[in-house]
Amino acid sequence: MNLREALHWRYAVKLFDRTRTLSTEQIEELAEVVRMAPTSLGLQPFRLLIVDDPAVKAQLDTACHRQQKQPGSASHVFIFAAPTAVDEPFWREYVDRAARERHLPPEKRGEFETRVRNYITSKSEAELPHWVEKQVYLAAGQLLLAAALAGIDACPMEGFDRNEADRILGLRQMGLRSVLLCPLGHRSPMDTFAAVKKVRLPRDRFVIAP
Ligand SMILES: Cc1cc2nc3c(=O)[nH]c(=O)nc-3n(C[C@H](O)[C@H](O)[C@H](O)COP(=O)(O)O)c2cc1C
Repeated sequence: MNLREALHWRYAVKLFDRTRTLSTEQIEELAEVVRMAPTSLGLQPFRLLIVDDPAVKAQLDTACHRQQKQPGSASHVFIFAAPTAVDEPFWREYVDRAARERHLPPEKRGEFETRVRNYITSKSEAELPHWVEKQVYLAAGQLLLAAALAGIDACPMEGFDRNEADRILGLRQMGLRSVLLCPLGHRSPMDTFAAVKKVRLPRDRFVIAP
């Protein structure tokens, strides 16, 4: 499938084929797509949980609004989870790793640490979660495109109860909170949404000439 074909082939799947599962290799490849996504300062302020346990997936259905069935019917569910606190221990781990892996001399390390600290502390309590979520959404976009190019179906989902999902997944005990779900698998032949016409602005309304 070329890029154009993939863009038109993909859609936000409402029901997956429960009989078709993705291979470990396919899942690992998609996890790598998320891991390698660009993030602000390279801080990767989120983690990826991968769920394939049928009981947990079925529980996630109950956390979805409007009785959505994507998690329970999917082969795997990717959960983008953000740290509940983007605090010094969190960003320091990244600074330490970057300094080590890039062999930064002490002076350069200090400059980098100051840059990261100033960036994070310049954000208010209200801004930080919003900033974190922007990083998640960019990585999720990369995941959706990569999945489509590989002929793998997906549905980005924010229509779920975050507290309930956090409880099901035990996220708070890990210092995390759920941001976005992305069930993955293959579309069910019963999913009538596959035939629904895509609605997008025409190019001349969408791309604005300067
Ligand atoms: C951030 C985000 C959250 C979404 N949440 C849901 C959701 O909870 N359930 C759902 O069925 N679709 C969800 N969608 C899918 C959109 O409704 C869908 O992408 C849009 O209608 C365009 O249709 P298409 O992706 O099938 O082309 C979400 C999409 C995005 C980008």
